[in-house]
Amino acid sequence: SRVEYLNYAVLDDHGWDLDDDDLFGKAAAGDLDHEDYGEFLVEPHESLLEAAENRGFMWPFACRGGACANCAVIVKEGELSMPVNNILPPEMIDQDIRLSCNGIPVTDEMQVLYNVKHLPELEELRL
Ligand code: FES
Repeated sequence: SRVEYLNYAVLDDHGWDLDDDDLFGKAAAGDLDHEDYGEFLVEPHESLLEAAENRGFMWPFACRGGACANCAVIVKEGELSMPVNNILPPEMIDQDIRLSCNGIPVTDEMQVLYNVKHLPELEELRL
C-alpha cells in the first residue's frame, strides 16, 4: 500500500483545518519537511508504525500493544485494520481514529494524519 502521511502538529502552524477536504492538497503544496509530509510504501507484513520506523521516521508510540493510543492516527482515505484495540471507544473509531502500532493498511492507497495523540479527546482518554 502507498501511504501519504501528514504530521498533525503542523496543522496549527499553517492554520489548516482537520476537516478540510483539501488538507492533503495543501500539504503537498506546502513545502513541508519530509518528516512532516510525504509518502512511503507499506509491505504486507508491516504495521503502519513499523513501516514508518523502517523508513527512518519517528512516529509516537508507547505500548505497541493497542492499549495506550500514543500511536493514534486519523485515516482520511483508505482503511487501516485494527486487530488489537483496548483503548479507543466506538465513537472515536467512528471518527476514523485508528492505532498504527498494529494496524495494517487494507487498501492500496491511504492518507493518514499521524501524531494525533494531541487531539483533545485523545489527551483526555490517556489521563
Ligand atoms: Fe500503544 Fe499503539 S503504541 S496503542
